[in-house]
Amino acid sequence: MGDFLELAARRQSCRDFSGARVERDKLVKCVEAGRLAPSGCNGQPWSFVVVDDPGKVAEVAKCGQHFGINGFTDKAGAFIVVLEEHAKLMPALREILDSQFFAQGDIGGAVVSVCLEAADLGLGTCIIGLYNREKLTKLLSLPHEQRFGALIAVGYPSDDTIRPKARKPLEEIVRYV
Ligand SMILES: Cc1cc2nc3c(=O)[nH]c(=O)nc-3n(C[C@H](O)[C@H](O)[C@H](O)COP(=O)(O)O)c2cc1C
Repeated sequence: MGDFLELAARRQSCRDFSGARVERDKLVKCVEAGRLAPSGCNGQPWSFVVVDDPGKVAEVAKCGQHFGINGFTDKAGAFIVVLEEHAKLMPALREILDSQFFAQGDIGGAVVSVCLEAADLGLGTCIIGLYNREKLTKLLSLPHEQRFGALIAVGYPSDDTIRPKARKPLEEIVRYV
């Protein structure tokens, strides 16, 4: 078994893609990693749209550049769009919680799994937080009321440099009781 912490350190947001296309089977593996993620009551409040048609990839990139940022996504080879779907909670919880209570957290976990699998396959990813949802809804022929989980740019990094992680020190964020 590989070293998980080494993979976690190797996963980084890629903002310099080579422009090469990404093989469909690798994208399927990334989605499979998302599918295997845990979720509250195993509600699995997600579905995935794999965008790998070059014309569509270019259009999705533009959705992520709506706020004048993320120009680097022009060279992404694909996108994985994570949609928020209805979560079916266990009966006891259905009484007291909204069905989507765990959804955003669940989707966050699935997104990280997608990105880690991509890193394991030698691919780069960048989660794109701001995008034109209206435009993306039309582009992907989604229903008007569709809720989004995340937009992930995927591609081959143009170089294999791993940046040091800028993170709060462990002592600052953990305590033991
Ligand atoms: C919800 C979310 C939204 C993000 N949106 C963007 C984005 O729009 N553009 C971008 O370049 N990076 C974006 N990022 C990447 C973060 O900037 C990045 O994860 C963080 O700086 C840590 O760096 P690392 O991913 O390389 O470890 C986003 C990350 C998350 C989790």
